[in-house]
Amino acid sequence: MSNSFLMRYSACALLIASLLLSVIPQHAAAQALKEPHHAAIDRERIDINANWRFSRFTTNPDSLSYSVLKDWILPSGNLFINGTKHNRPSGTPPGNNVQYVKADFNDSTWEALNVPHDWAVKGPFNAPGISGGMGRLPSNGIGWYRKTVTLAKPDLEKTIFLDIDGAMSYSAVWLNGNLVGGWPYGYNSFRLDLTPYAKEGTNQLAIRLENALDSSRWYPGAGIYRNVWLVKVNPVHVRQYGTYVTTPQISAQSATVNLAVEVENTGSASQQVNVRTKVHLADSATGKPTGVIVAKFPSKSTSIAKGATQSISTSVTIDNPRLWGPPPTQKPNLYVAVTTVTVGNSTVDTYETRFGIRTLTYDANKGLLVNGEHIRVQGTCNHHDLGSLGTAFNIRALERQFQILEEMGTNALRTSHNIPAPEFLELADRFGFLVYDEMFDCWKTQKVANDYHLLFDDWSEPDLRSFIRRDRNHPSVMAWGIGNEIPEQNSASGGTIGKYLRDIVVSEDLTRPVTAGMDSAKATSAFANVLDIEGLNYQGEGRGTSTDSAFPSFHSAQPNKMIWSSESSSVLSTRGTYIFPVTSANSAIVGAASGGNDSASQVSAYELYAPSWGASPDKVFEGQDRHDYVAGEFVWTGFDYIGEPTPYDKSRSSYFGIVDLAGFKKDRFYLYQARWRADFPMAHILPHWNWPDRVGQVTPVHVFSSADEAELFVNGKSAGRKKVAEYAYRFRWDDVKYEAGELHVVTYKNGKEWATDTKKTVGAAAKLNITADRTNIAGDGNDLSFITVAVVDGNGDIVPQANNNVTFSITGPGKIVSTDNGNPSDFTVFPSPSRQAFSGLVLSIVRANAGASGNIVVSVTSPGLPSTSVTLHAS
Ligand SMILES: *[C@@H]1O[C@H](CO)[C@@H](O)[C@H](O)[C@H]1NC(C)=O
Ligand SMILES: *[C@@H]1O[C@H](CO)[C@@H](O)[C@H](O)[C@H]1NC(C)=O
Ligand SMILES: *[C@@H]1O[C@H](CO)[C@@H](O)[C@H](O)[C@H]1NC(C)=O
Ligand SMILES: *[C@@H]1O[C@H](CO)[C@@H](O)[C@H](O)[C@H]1NC(C)=O
Ligand SMILES: *[C@@H]1O[C@H](CO)[C@@H](O)[C@H](O)[C@H]1NC(C)=O
Ligand SMILES: *[C@@H]1O[C@H](CO)[C@@H](O)[C@H](O)[C@H]1NC(C)=O
Repeated sequence: MSNSFLMRYSACALLIASLLLSVIPQHAAAQALKEPHHAAIDRERIDINANWRFSRFTTNPDSLSYSVLKDWILPSGNLFINGTKHNRPSGTPPGNNVQYVKADFNDSTWEALNVPHDWAVKGPFNAPGISGGMGRLPSNGIGWYRKTVTLAKPDLEKTIFLDIDGAMSYSAVWLNGNLVGGWPYGYNSFRLDLTPYAKEGTNQLAIRLENALDSSRWYPGAGIYRNVWLVKVNPVHVRQYGTYVTTPQISAQSATVNLAVEVENTGSASQQVNVRTKVHLADSATGKPTGVIVAKFPSKSTSIAKGATQSISTSVTIDNPRLWGPPPTQKPNLYVAVTTVTVGNSTVDTYETRFGIRTLTYDANKGLLVNGEHIRVQGTCNHHDLGSLGTAFNIRALERQFQILEEMGTNALRTSHNIPAPEFLELADRFGFLVYDEMFDCWKTQKVANDYHLLFDDWSEPDLRSFIRRDRNHPSVMAWGIGNEIPEQNSASGGTIGKYLRDIVVSEDLTRPVTAGMDSAKATSAFANVLDIEGLNYQGEGRGTSTDSAFPSFHSAQPNKMIWSSESSSVLSTRGTYIFPVTSANSAIVGAASGGNDSASQVSAYELYAPSWGASPDKVFEGQDRHDYVAGEFVWTGFDYIGEPTPYDKSRSSYFGIVDLAGFKKDRFYLYQARWRADFPMAHILPHWNWPDRVGQVTPVHVFSSADEAELFVNGKSAGRKKVAEYAYRFRWDDVKYEAGELHVVTYKNGKEWATDTKKTVGAAAKLNITADRTNIAGDGNDLSFITVAVVDGNGDIVPQANNNVTFSITGPGKIVSTDNGNPSDFTVFPSPSRQAFSGLVLSIVRANAGASGNIVVSVTSPGLPSTSVTLHAS
């Protein structure tokens, strides 16, 4: 335990617990308790996602802007400023006379929709002024959202909050024609107090968003793209993010759990308040309290003056704690603390805090230990879009991504480079993923003209404090990221601004280290000195064809700090596309004669070609294995994403993903699975074996496998049995000459047969093979079925180059939300029901309507092929 971070925080011992504000209505959960409690409804948290009206404007319709609204918006961050707070200016706020904020404005011609909503994802592509980097979709402009909210008389005795989990960007909110406040950073969650402007009956809510051109390096999305809630509480209530759980001592026999509860009194009189908390086991499927109570915190009473907030701290011991840890060797066990606040004999608030108990040790020489077990960090970086759904948050779409990553052996996620949806961490807690929770892509120096540097001076403190308070109780969170490839990383301000941010983090959470992704900072830089974990982007494995590794210099200059590859590889590929000749190197820089096809805008899926800064997975693995003190890596990226289509800027989406934009696995998936699930018997051959134009030509065959030996057979004839070489991570037969027929590989581990794979030359497209990932879905207007259509030959084998045009149609209470095929240069709009297959596959995403029950039949047609269908059941 020589790590300086450990020494600095040994008092906290890095033993962490976590909580989260449940997304279910608090009263509903409380009613599920086996023990009765008073009060009808003491806290309501209602989603107000349904029935909004929306309009987008490409020229300013209202003469407003952030600079005009700013003085009224700044006070919305006050709870997260430790120093001089902003006063709301006196007088009439700007915008109160804009027609869209008024109740009598007729919005019936505006689009009717539910949020989460991404106004840009429906396209069309090639939106004026939007770069390839930003995804070519119309995310710019001003968007107005309107909705009415009905409040009953008893509600007016409550404190009423609007909670927005995320809106892109520069939110400004009016209620009944009064500017309430807002929040500019589109990735943060925020709360506004509606109470002063609320009235009985119909209340008109109006939200203005604005997205500049050149505001992001990737597709930012646009609109109210996460959930929105109305929260009604009694004047005495647990404050926003008002509980904090830590677990300073953990052994097999017992865990000490500390809980701080912040209780706010917005009423007009001082109150004598009692706070009690019981700890339940959490249900592993739902995360809800099971009713099995394992501990009770001592009850505490205190008097809280009107307008004041008090923090009430207590501690309890849990015997034989069920620890939280990453599968497959550990289990992500969770607890829920249910806090009851009473005044006199009545319960005024019930508040749930989900948390986990685990130890994390960040060791400079051994890497990461979770509950004492060494866990190699097998992570991916991911942007926030959900493929053809855009950025509109959908829990099932994220869960599907997590399932695919879990199947690959992923145990860690980096939320590159921004605050995720709250549900992201909730899911990560349940999957047992370790999260590198990241905040900023830039500080004061811009990367693009209209990025966060415009906000840094005013908002870095409230954004950072609110982010940490929101997320600090999730057991999944293992590190706080304060920056990615920050332009200041090589200057003195890398140290001063880095320290300013780190001090804020430490003042909010002492239990996790602060890190950042450094692509050029040196080991002795002021920036590197400030960080608790040294995060290297690409420098560790050596950029491009360079074999210089920055790991040794960081390890010697920062001998007490853990090092990981905060970003690695950046290898590029297009699913199912193979380009010849194939480099004999283990990593190459992509180019016209090196793995790239400029006219088709595609990169070869031999998984060897990277941009100038990147490296193949193989080269990264070698770098990690040659420096075994390195804790692991976060691959750029798990999934393809909209925007940043390096190396073909004219495309719509990236080539970086291990999995394509539709969620189809590239060959690379198996290269990672072979390493990350070394005990899972698997062999995977590439390329496909349909090359009529290549008869007699050298067509290299590569095999990804967790085996240590492999023999390839070409039409039954051995092409040689090979042992895996030191620092090699694939089996290669680079001189195979193509002939139609069959490739078959037999692999061995420790001399015993391990796994096999076969690739055959297939016949012409004959059928459509349709598969739904789930045929039973909830009729709640949110749940999704992901439907894959494979173009297959007469034997049912996928036709690897098939690009048949497929059309989906639906009957029953559901909707085709979007289609995709993972082709980065396909500009067919995402909602289109027709799309060409790409490398034999096409995807359709289907949602059941709210209130739906019964059968939904999804049919597919394609010229020249028999139609087929799949039946879903909504309930
Ligand atoms: C709102 O506008 C629509 C469409 O122009 C019109 O049909 C409707 O009568 C209007 N409603 C009111 C209350 O004026
Ligand atoms: C609270 O409950 C106790 C016990 O039931 C009762 O004696 C007391 O009068 C109650 N107090 C109030 C203020 O209702
Ligand atoms: C707030 O500022 C005061 C005075 O500088 C400092 O003592 C305190 O630790 C700070 N609190 C937080 C949470 O940063
Ligand atoms: C590049 O793509 C074009 C268009 O799809 C194709 O005709 C050509 O054969 C490809 N070139 C290589 C080297 O694969
Ligand atoms: C065809 O569909 C079946 C049933 O859904 C599925 O198990 C199989 O993997 C599919 N085949 C291909 C080549 O996609
Ligand atoms: C695919 O089929 C649809 C529906 O018939 C048609 O509108 C579209 O133009 C076709 N696309 C291609 C590339 O043929």
